[in-house]
Amino acid sequence: MNKLVTELALYDIAPVTKGVAADLSHCNTPVKVTGHVGPEELGNALSGADLVVIPAGVPRKPGMTRDDLFNINAGIVKALAEGVAKHSPNAVINIISNPVNSTVPIAAEVLKKAGKYDKRKVIGVTTLDVVRANTFVAEEKGLDLKDVDVPVVGGHAGTTILPLLSQASPKVEFSDADAAKLTERIQNAGTEVVEAKAGAGSATLSMAYAAARMAESVLLGLEGNADVYECAYVESDVTELPYFATKVRLGPNGVEEVLGLGELSPAEQKGVEELIPVLKGNINKGIEFANA
Ligand code: LMR
Repeated sequence: MNKLVTELALYDIAPVTKGVAADLSHCNTPVKVTGHVGPEELGNALSGADLVVIPAGVPRKPGMTRDDLFNINAGIVKALAEGVAKHSPNAVINIISNPVNSTVPIAAEVLKKAGKYDKRKVIGVTTLDVVRANTFVAEEKGLDLKDVDVPVVGGHAGTTILPLLSQASPKVEFSDADAAKLTERIQNAGTEVVEAKAGAGSATLSMAYAAARMAESVLLGLEGNADVYECAYVESDVTELPYFATKVRLGPNGVEEVLGLGELSPAEQKGVEELIPVLKGNINKGIEFANA
């Protein structure tokens, strides 16, 4: 449905992918849809791609953290990143597969090893955190959703998800207790869905909505539009960590500019300090896996 998409190449190891492609291809949009199954068809899926969106892997069940998915999803992302290095090295990659805090460093390491790494093109998708923060703030404050924008920084798991409520637009006031409660709800929103689905997986529809928004922003940037901003988890020198989510400006090469944290409330400052060691562990786990 997105006018910036000319061709959609679907890839999975599951044979149903060809059926999904046939199904989608009947929509009367100009988009060419193709389906590709199994590693031998990965090259065809990837070649010529401007944007590769990776949502592959297994979802959480109640009681699991995103890091519990590492053992299965890390290998899947590694193999797909190897495919990108070989078949579409100039594509921007949007990584959704959890644990994003570790899968982004994995993809980056794979591309570095292949001599194809461009820090502007490897992006961890944290848009769902912003979507949730916007929804919850609008609900609490009775605001029109289309006006609400809450930056979310750090990473994409538990306390590494840090909404900057003090920088919400329009400006909203929260007591310290209310800000802490709302922050916790945003941090646990993925778990809220996992528990409500009671073993049948994690967020898919809101995730697809958020991923579509991020993909559109990347494509708008690639088209040369100015002023395209999203929060995203990317290579960064905003903190001591090599990867961190903040607002970024998207453009013809992917991430053109990584913006800083801006002015933080004391609680947000503490949140950044506390998340750094956790995120550092997630990043190092990904780097070690990719280089093992
Ligand atoms: C989410 O935030 O909904 C996703 O990362 C999936 C999950 O496991 O929570």
